[in-house]
Amino acid sequence: MSDKHATLKVDGIEDAIELPVYSGTLGPDVVDVGALTGKGLFTYDPGFVSTAACTSEITYIDGAEGVLLHRGYPIDQLAEQSDYLETCYLLLYGELPSAEQKRKFENTVKRHTMVHEQIRTFFNGFRRDAHPMAVLCGVVGALSAFYHDSLDIADEHHREVAAFRLIAKMPTLAAMSYKFSIGQPFMYPDNSLGYAENFLHMMFGNPCEPSKVNPVLARAMDRIFLLHADHEQNASTSTVRLAGSSGANPFACIAAGIAALWGPSHGGANEAVLEMLEEIGDVSRIDEFVARAKDKNDPFRLMGFGHRVYKNFDPRAKVMKEAADEVLAELGIENEPLLAIAKRLEEIALNDEYFVEKKLYPNVDFYSGIILKAIGIPTSMFTVIFAVGRTVGWIAHWHEMISGNYRIGRPRQLYTGHPKRDFVPVDQRG
Ligand code: SDX
Repeated sequence: MSDKHATLKVDGIEDAIELPVYSGTLGPDVVDVGALTGKGLFTYDPGFVSTAACTSEITYIDGAEGVLLHRGYPIDQLAEQSDYLETCYLLLYGELPSAEQKRKFENTVKRHTMVHEQIRTFFNGFRRDAHPMAVLCGVVGALSAFYHDSLDIADEHHREVAAFRLIAKMPTLAAMSYKFSIGQPFMYPDNSLGYAENFLHMMFGNPCEPSKVNPVLARAMDRIFLLHADHEQNASTSTVRLAGSSGANPFACIAAGIAALWGPSHGGANEAVLEMLEEIGDVSRIDEFVARAKDKNDPFRLMGFGHRVYKNFDPRAKVMKEAADEVLAELGIENEPLLAIAKRLEEIALNDEYFVEKKLYPNVDFYSGIILKAIGIPTSMFTVIFAVGRTVGWIAHWHEMISGNYRIGRPRQLYTGHPKRDFVPVDQRG
């Protein structure tokens, strides 16, 4: 147990309340407030700004220093020297794989890339112009129907197979969501290709001619998946944990995570960044939009800026910016007008007193959309790409919770509604 304590003195309660304080490997200490319920008290922390909901060994973020570690490894080293599937192994098993473990893991993922042929019929229930996130949310949830009876979440092997199925099938389902939206036939995965290469093959290939994926674009796609892989207890990961805490099927939990990610304040920001840059249209209009972002009476926010945790730069944004430069140089579009607007917007925002004072820096979503647009991915698919990358983080946190001691999540509230009152029959109401 802890040898540190916090003492809470509450008006109206005679004795001070002793609360244990725990220290982690890195980061702030936490105060265990479990004893408060017995004193008739709850904590109050809307948005969980100051609440640690669990212990975890997967990812550590230091918002003040711009640090992101996956199982202790800095994100910039992983982005530079690793690849997405190796990072998936690290997040799931806690250590970097040996060469043999890496080969075996990659082969197992490749053996799960196809989806049941019956899944194809689910797509036909959607309108062709349905948002791909709505489609993805639906078909991933539908995967529950294919595996629910064969999945015992208390069985570690069953949990591992569910992880392989989700990591392997998400690119296939994502590409199917895109193909469905443009009326083209679905492409089957080609397991002779790498993970990101296979995804781009399924996105842009067609049955009428052989497809060749540009290796620079495949590498950029792989880094985008890697940079989105996990991010501690963000809104969508916390959603997956809460759904999983009831014992729900992991496919249903991931569908819940996809739904939470869709919001423009979270994973939907990459799509919103591109829409914002296109709305700005020219560097001459940047000041107008920066003024709007600062205006309390205007709901407009500078999409791709700010973060709940990072109050310094988002280390992922730095790597993403480098990847954007590489991709645009490879495609010979260094002067892509939206990139020019993005870079000028970043310069202005980083020198504007409002953004400096509120510590609003570019986040992971600010540059990712530039790369995705350059690769040819439509804006409506940007958050789908985020969901593909984040699936391993969601499933790693779900597995970490289910394999440990967990209880169903059940937050309380500060009730501000009516006190008890008696029912009034309709003929006696005013
Ligand atoms: C992701 O949690 C994660 O880890 C998420 C993520 C992950 O990998 O899972 O990193 C991915 O979601 C990145 C964030 C993508 N969202 C956006 O880019 C949308 C734009 N950003 C904002 O909506 C906002 O910054 C949030 C939602 C990201 C953070 O919100 P917070 O922490 O609740 O901050 P806040 O809303 O309390 O803002 C603090 C102040 C406010 O002003 P005051 O009320 O103090 O006067 O800063 C202002 C806000 O108005 N502010 C902005 C702003 N972001 C915050 N003003 C203008 N433009 C912005 N982008």
